[in-house]
Amino acid sequence: MKFKKVHALKGEVAVPGDKSISHRAVMFGSISNGLTEITNFLYGADCLSTIHCFRQMGIQIENTTDRILIHGKGLHGLSKPYDTLDTGNSGTTIRLISGILAGQSFESTLNGDQSIQNRPMKRIITPLRMMGASITSIRNNDCAPLHIAGRSLKGIHYHSPIASAQVKSSVLLAGLYADGSSSVTEPYLSRNHTEIMLNYFGGDVQTLETTATIQPAAELYGQKVLVPGDISSAAYFLTAGLIIPNSEILLKNVGINPTRAGILQVYKEMGADITILKEHSDSGEASADILVKSSSLQGITIGGDMIPTLIDELPVIAVLACFAKGTTIIRDAQELKVKESNRIDVMVKNLSSMGADITATDDGMIIVGGYPLQGAVIDSKSDHRIAMSFAIAGIAADGETEILDADCVKISYPDFYEDLYHLTCK
Ligand code: S3P
Repeated sequence: MKFKKVHALKGEVAVPGDKSISHRAVMFGSISNGLTEITNFLYGADCLSTIHCFRQMGIQIENTTDRILIHGKGLHGLSKPYDTLDTGNSGTTIRLISGILAGQSFESTLNGDQSIQNRPMKRIITPLRMMGASITSIRNNDCAPLHIAGRSLKGIHYHSPIASAQVKSSVLLAGLYADGSSSVTEPYLSRNHTEIMLNYFGGDVQTLETTATIQPAAELYGQKVLVPGDISSAAYFLTAGLIIPNSEILLKNVGINPTRAGILQVYKEMGADITILKEHSDSGEASADILVKSSSLQGITIGGDMIPTLIDELPVIAVLACFAKGTTIIRDAQELKVKESNRIDVMVKNLSSMGADITATDDGMIIVGGYPLQGAVIDSKSDHRIAMSFAIAGIAADGETEILDADCVKISYPDFYEDLYHLTCK
């Protein structure tokens, strides 16, 4: 797909539902009693993988155009899957479902695409084994495919070496089935959607600083979930609105949970003209409209406890940094290397080919802004967030940008290019 410079972006966009919250609504609805009704669900390939996995375990899930209906069977209502559970490209699916499967009374096997088969699973294997789970990497390389034989589990207190909501959630979900309380302490607080939604479904999760503690549950109860728009998807329009002159974009109904919305704080510190409007709560999650206008930006240092609050936005933040005055340093972000692609390598290589002054470091990147970008051919490495980041770079750069494998955006934002096109002033 090819992109050329645009001269302004104007209008409104309602980004699709939050990916993390959509996954959790399907999972928790499936192990709750009664009906769960999800509106503004993200119909992206990752969340459809989660639906497919629970259907394979006997859950009836109705997928209509405007809502998902889950006929939950309770904490012990899943049945042994008739085949390997296919988690596709989705790290959230494989890591969270592993926590649920560890406490079942049947055996199962989980696998996914090439990218998933190269992503680290030791981070969940270690704590789940501490709880008594039988979970093995079939090829003995700490990656998928994984085999899980359900067992009775014991509660643990796990000190996670990384701030990862997927690790934390995997342990908390296994903790639903344990013989006593389980807790996870993280170096920094990661996104807390699991904690919010488990409580919303009748669970008992308490958070004290960076420790989340769950009590084993007798039952969870089906709920109505209204999924807020995904801030990670909104991030592309936020960035485009800031760096493309004469732009003004209203992003409708976006999740602004503070454990997720670090990009808003960072962009404001860089000088962004961003206004938060109509703040409210949807199913326990903070949500608002966001108005963004083109701004003159200044480089900053991003690291420490900010990183987990904007980890998925760092590729597009790197694009924005090319348009800021001065130097932007991204540090403490080594987790970028184990996402859908090695996002440090891929960003540095591709932005360099567009003429940016960008250097890879062990735990992030250093970008000296202010050099105009030139169109180039961009290999997305089939990573949805790379493709969308370079669509934004492409409409802000001189010349033509071609993105290879551009349709990988279907993972998290199937209509991304259409929504971007509608904002373009012809
Ligand atoms: C997610 C957590 C983050 C994030 C991913 C979604 C989640 O991953 O990058 O896109 O839904 O819990 P980590 O837990 O690996 O940081």
